[in-house]
Amino acid sequence: MKLATVILAAGAGTRMKSSTPKVLHNLMGKPLIAHVAEAAKAVGSSRCVVVLGNHTQEAKKHLDSDKTTFALQKKQDGTAGALRSALPALKGFEGNILILSGDTPLVTQNLLTKFIKLHKQKKEDLSLMTFDATPPHAYGRIIRSEGKISRIVEDKDATSEEKLITEVNSGIYLMKSSILNLLRSIPLNKAKGEYYLTDIVSIALKKGFKAGAHLLGSETELTGINTRAELHRATLFLRERLVAEFMQSGVTFIDSSSVFISKETKIGQDTVIYPNVHIEGRSVIGKKCIVYPNSRILDSIIADEVTIKDSTVIESSEVKSKASVGPFAHLRPGSVIGSSAKIGNFVEIKKSVVGKGSKASHLTYIGDAVIGKDVNIGAGTITCNYDGKNKFKTEIHDDVFIGSDSQLVAPVKVGKGAYVGAGSTITRDVPPGALAVTRTHQKNIYGWAKKRPQKGK
Ligand code: UD1
Ligand code: CA
Repeated sequence: MKLATVILAAGAGTRMKSSTPKVLHNLMGKPLIAHVAEAAKAVGSSRCVVVLGNHTQEAKKHLDSDKTTFALQKKQDGTAGALRSALPALKGFEGNILILSGDTPLVTQNLLTKFIKLHKQKKEDLSLMTFDATPPHAYGRIIRSEGKISRIVEDKDATSEEKLITEVNSGIYLMKSSILNLLRSIPLNKAKGEYYLTDIVSIALKKGFKAGAHLLGSETELTGINTRAELHRATLFLRERLVAEFMQSGVTFIDSSSVFISKETKIGQDTVIYPNVHIEGRSVIGKKCIVYPNSRILDSIIADEVTIKDSTVIESSEVKSKASVGPFAHLRPGSVIGSSAKIGNFVEIKKSVVGKGSKASHLTYIGDAVIGKDVNIGAGTITCNYDGKNKFKTEIHDDVFIGSDSQLVAPVKVGKGAYVGAGSTITRDVPPGALAVTRTHQKNIYGWAKKRPQKGK
């Protein structure tokens, strides 16, 4: 049977106390809605409808628009109203419809697959995923009679006895397309001025449809995010899940409680991650690497046996095997550090290639440069790549030695095996094997210190 997915994501999210719509808040590097869309995509639905409110344009940027239809809920009149807004996009669809909430981002493909299977096995018209929440927070409570679901009661409308129930509504439903006709029968909840999708359960049962509630998953997968505190809790749940998976595959964490790693990151065996390391975006870390504390790696590829020393930032760059970067180094986008190369203390590299075995160990800026193999860049070297208007390239060929405190005013080339004397300002190309020195000769004035006028005389 065919499957369509609807993600309800039009709510304003007032409880977040934010000018950013709730579903666009960031969870481990991605907006909530993107996490849900990913789970929806993984179960393979033939149609995916995302119901959005006033933040449509912004939300679209984070979603794969090829596979998604966007529906607009003009007035935020509740979860049933949101599903109603998806009806035009579902026109002519016959099959099962999976309803997800844009604010329930920890749901997994595994859990959804189990749910879909149960729905089919039990031959239900309407299935609901529930979980046990202790305490039950403000989730809708599942009211059962003789073991079978009879209705859902929202926290606000629950009696004190009903409030004690810990089986709660996840907001994830699977329904036959015929159930959609019942949306019209949902009454307005006068107290809140909203149409509750939860009412569809009792209505379906009254009309003789088969409905079932399935206690699946846990709070760590089904937590809903309404407040900043819940967003933080979800971050911790997700972090714990990811760290457990990494450890399972052979990664060591010194203190996993301070580490943040995106879902998309891959880390090889025997890599050690120190405290307070952040790995974001689509990063790949190889085997036997060490990432020391306070480092941030974003959208980068780190090969095997690389050492990343303390407080290093690596953005959209590549570091090849056995290289060492840091402490306090910054690789800005577009940098490639060759194998066994060394980028040391307070070195900034931008859009440059550093060849195999080359070293820039201290206090250097390398921008728009191509550096060959086994080059030594002395402390305090600067590639002057910008004249205030345009950027220019510096080329440093293999086996070059650049003395400390030199400036290379681009565009400029330093040929293979050449030397640049310390303190030089290089404005013209240096031929291979040559020595370029631009500083003035040293003058020694003998006995000057003695002849120097004394203080107060
Ligand atoms: C809802 C359920 C509750 C359940 C909980 C699970 C209802 C009435 N209640 O409560 O039983 O335990 O989710 O997390 O359904 N939305 C719209 N348009 C609207 C209102 C909401 O698209 O007009 C979207 C929101 O963006 C959100 C989802 O629907 O992604 C759920 O809405 P929310 O207001 O968070 O519902 P809860 O109060 O959490
Ligand atoms: Ca919610």
